Amino acid sequence: MLKLKAAMRICFLSTINKTFLAVLLIATLFVIFFYLAAHESPDEIVISRKFNFVAAPPVPFFKRFEAARHLNCEKLFENQDNSTYKQEKVKVDLDALEFDMSCSAIMKRNFFPHIPLSPDEASFPLAFAKVVYKDYLYLEADLASFYAPQNAYCFSIDSKADWKFKSRIHTLSKCFSNVIYTSNQFDVDSGGHNMDASHLVCMKALRSYRPWKYVALLQNYDSAIKTNAEMVQIYRWLGGANDVELNPPFMERIDQSLDWTFKGLNLFKNSTKNTDQKIAFAKGYNECSLSRAAVDYIFDELNVDKLVFQLNSGSFGIDEILIPTLQTDDAIGLPGGITRRCLDEKVTNSHFTRKSIWGPSKNCPSDSWRHGICIFGTEMLAEMENWPELFGNKFIPEMDYGAFECMRERLYNRTYAVDRMLPEDTLNELVYKTHIIVRYNRERRRLKFDKKKFSCNYQHVG
Ligand SMILES: *[C@@H]1O[C@H](CO)[C@@H](O)[C@H](O)[C@H]1NC(C)=O
Ligand SMILES: *[C@@H]1O[C@H](CO)[C@@H](O)[C@H](O)[C@H]1NC(C)=O
Ligand SMILES: *[C@@H]1O[C@H](CO)[C@@H](O)[C@H](O)[C@H]1NC(C)=O
Repeated sequence: MLKLKAAMRICFLSTINKTFLAVLLIATLFVIFFYLAAHESPDEIVISRKFNFVAAPPVPFFKRFEAARHLNCEKLFENQDNSTYKQEKVKVDLDALEFDMSCSAIMKRNFFPHIPLSPDEASFPLAFAKVVYKDYLYLEADLASFYAPQNAYCFSIDSKADWKFKSRIHTLSKCFSNVIYTSNQFDVDSGGHNMDASHLVCMKALRSYRPWKYVALLQNYDSAIKTNAEMVQIYRWLGGANDVELNPPFMERIDQSLDWTFKGLNLFKNSTKNTDQKIAFAKGYNECSLSRAAVDYIFDELNVDKLVFQLNSGSFGIDEILIPTLQTDDAIGLPGGITRRCLDEKVTNSHFTRKSIWGPSKNCPSDSWRHGICIFGTEMLAEMENWPELFGNKFIPEMDYGAFECMRERLYNRTYAVDRMLPEDTLNELVYKTHIIVRYNRERRRLKFDKKKFSCNYQHVG
């Protein structure tokens, strides 16, 4: 039997020998072609375990905004008496300044790395969709503080923003292959009108752009308070779960006279799923992070147009319903979501994408407020470093730009200092891994998972 097999193999080989060689030759040519093509493309990321193959990369540098030069930032990150900080507030009207908008000037103001800074980051690209309208220089500096060439960044510009701001964002985008803006502009307001639509056009553009793993939905004054390496580590710990804050809905924000059935909303692309069942609403902050699978599901399996349109007819907080609702309605089945039962059992959950301190609150040492939200000040830097969130809202240049400048100098140090700590050594893994949505999605992957038996008990850590 064995002999027969061997004989057959030899016979087989001799007859296909020529074909095999021809295929091998063509395959080799293909590999060479793609190698050359890949290295000609400016978008291509060079990924290797060592990165030693890349010729001398530009040397990182950090430049603080002129008016904030005098601050002793490092000291502000040590716990200290508050009173001394109060005199050092740097207040600037950034959009009133004139500055060079050439690409070379942009590259001189802030350092933007040309290569991924670690293999862990290279293999885990991220995307960011941000609705913007003001303070261009702040946005440029914030971008630099967590910029990575393998990531993708999309700006959705509020149609009300002035032409100068718009043209600056357009110019910024022209200097980077991975920074885009959407040509579709919406009139966004503090009631949340058109916020979802603005994020959706960015998500759609980002989706056809790069193979990122998570997207964060953000607004103008959400600034990075984690480095890219730290964000990557946090998203890896989330393990595919969407990071969405969850609360019961405020039903008065929703026009009950409209048709909210799956059928009326034409929610599913597969029309047999468009039953007379009503969609189950939930509420959560607009800022959130969605897994790639969730975003693909939203565009490939759902039609959210009518849902977005109907939600937009409300008056306040109407940008806080869409994603939390998709996240929890069991009949929708969003990848990375959670069962609605937990919300029905009155279990709410916080999230990590964005930190904001709502008033009235004692946790606002700067004691300055805008629209009910605490404005971060230099007094808060020490504690901010321990927050588990990725972004913070808000630093306002006209209130305390020094606090923002110090924060991004700190992020720069955490990214480039030779003796910097690794994310897994500074972040508290438990905070993320014990989160109810993360646990739900971890248990869901088990073979015998029963949604009905999932324990919604949840004690927030951190
Ligand atoms: C960042 O590192 C530099 C160089 O070590 C140091 O001088 C500076 O004070 C650090 N900044 C902060 C905010 O820690
Ligand atoms: C559409 O949905 C129905 C009901 O869930 C399912 O049986 C059917 O296979 C789906 N069709 C397609 C094309 O996915
Ligand atoms: C800083 O200020 C806050 C509130 O203003 C106060 O609660 C806290 O005790 C102060 N910390 C120090 C070290 O003075």
